[in-house]
Amino acid sequence: MAGSIPRSFIDDLLNRIDIVEIIDARVPLKKKGREYWACCPFHNEKSPSFSVSQNKQFYHCFGCQQHGNAISFLMDYDHMEFVEAIETLAQHIGVEVPYEKGRHQAYSRKNTPHSEQLLQTLQQCSDFFMQQLRDNQTAIDYLKQRGISGQTSQIFGIGYAPAGWNNLQGDVKLLVESGMMIENDQGKTYDRFRHRLMFPIRDRRGRTIAFGGRIINPEDNPKYLNSPESPVFHKGEEIYGLFELKQANSRIEQVFITEGYMDVVALAEHGVTTAVATLGTAINAGQIEKLFRLSKNLVFCFDADQAGRKAAWRALENSLGALKEGRIARFLFLPDGHDPDTFIKQFGRDAFIDQAAQATTLSKFLFDELLAQGEISSPEGRAQFLDKLRPYFNQIPLQSLKDQILRDVEKRLSVELDTRLLQVIGGNVMHEAQRSVIPEQHWTPARLAINLLLQRPSLATHAGNLEELAETDVPGVDLLLQILDRIHEEPDISPQNLLSRFSGHQNEAHLYKIAAMTPLMKDEEQEIQPMFEDAIKRLRPHYTRSRFRKLQQKLLAGQPLQEQELTEYRQLLRRDEK
Ligand code: UTP
Ligand code: MN
Repeated sequence: MAGSIPRSFIDDLLNRIDIVEIIDARVPLKKKGREYWACCPFHNEKSPSFSVSQNKQFYHCFGCQQHGNAISFLMDYDHMEFVEAIETLAQHIGVEVPYEKGRHQAYSRKNTPHSEQLLQTLQQCSDFFMQQLRDNQTAIDYLKQRGISGQTSQIFGIGYAPAGWNNLQGDVKLLVESGMMIENDQGKTYDRFRHRLMFPIRDRRGRTIAFGGRIINPEDNPKYLNSPESPVFHKGEEIYGLFELKQANSRIEQVFITEGYMDVVALAEHGVTTAVATLGTAINAGQIEKLFRLSKNLVFCFDADQAGRKAAWRALENSLGALKEGRIARFLFLPDGHDPDTFIKQFGRDAFIDQAAQATTLSKFLFDELLAQGEISSPEGRAQFLDKLRPYFNQIPLQSLKDQILRDVEKRLSVELDTRLLQVIGGNVMHEAQRSVIPEQHWTPARLAINLLLQRPSLATHAGNLEELAETDVPGVDLLLQILDRIHEEPDISPQNLLSRFSGHQNEAHLYKIAAMTPLMKDEEQEIQPMFEDAIKRLRPHYTRSRFRKLQQKLLAGQPLQEQELTEYRQLLRRDEK
């Protein structure tokens, strides 16, 4: 996604804006010590654990671990898309975003003069349909019979496409290209949507980019007709109801993902304004990621029947990769024959919210489905079960959820997960499961060195012999070396750009946590370099010890030492005697 905007521009942008200014405008910050603090906007808390560093230009919450730079703040707090966040920051300092040629980008794609014309055409159609609805009693009666008020229908811009073949006015070429008219083999053109209730599909900025049209006469078909793909409409990227949801809510507790336009509208009619729907397709990973940026709680709503469970399973598969810190996906199976529309109409809002509160967790749904596929009373059955679980398990990026699933495995299979079983599930599980979270403000030499480097990358020149460091098997040195490597590649890199190089890195969260800690220094200018050198020096004994062990093992195994190694061994031996 980042591909279409040059990285150098993003680097430069991050160097020029001030994250404190950006965040402070949205969440008032207080300066305490070197950092700025506030109650975290991403989780509920009474005392501030959300810190913003001006020096390193990032934020980190010690409570919920949310972290990032100015770009990710806008994405998470203002629910912006990546490109939108960049545009906003660029505007803030008054520069133009340069787009690289060639690659398509949703944002720029819609900003061509031609796309503007298409969007205008679609808006004119929408206005026309809404006006037609006011004049058509059959359509009004249909909406009434489905329990939709004038107000709700206004919010969603619902309209009516009249019967007859040529009602739309305007530039025929644009009408055809936007999908509103069809051109047949003889070059004749006619309206695509006739005698249908029209649901405008809007993009995140509220621009109409397509329509879904529902029959009013039960004899017509198909029941729903959607606009075809066009330069401004890409089905797989859009989500019905997203714009209306954002208009109606500032804080979004949970998002309901339904299967139909009518479900979204009916839920809103009953006061549940956080529902969206896909456009008649299975929800994909990109759409799920978008929704998770909006809210950490997603509730997928499906019918309880076989088709519903199948669709839910696809949603589960497409969610796994998005399950990062704090994100929760659950599955709501409504009682037989109901969809959200009919359910809320019959039982009301509270009953629906109640149902949602009891929605199946992702890990329960995962287990239920896999357990239904075979027995687990025998060791073979259990092994098969773990085999089936593995590919899903391994897609989950969040350690705490993995741990939870492992605990569930133990419970469900009534087995203690020994090393062997864990290996069956996933090679590196054991290692990761044992990796504990570092206690706050607990400084090891490696951690301190990382912290100082993130504060002042130029310290890397004082790191000494990296090959020696590489031989050290102390936890954290790996990461330290990766950071040193990065700095050697880009010696003039700024702290904020250095951190952003690790976005998506497996240790990203860990790194932000270290970066957010503040080592005690009275005079930073004076102390920072000696402190760094000292941290590196303190890693050396680890180096000598592991080097000594290595050489000794070689000797004990009867392997001859090179002359150089022998000298080294003697030196290390003598050192130990001291
Ligand atoms: P449903 O048939 O479940 O519709 O299709 P619904 O939401 O319950 O509609 P009502 O209550 O009968 O009005 C769900 C979604 O599947 C797509 C549409 O996006 C619809 O909202 N669909 C359905 C089609 O694209 N074409 C169809 O013929 C039917
Ligand atoms: Mn329905």
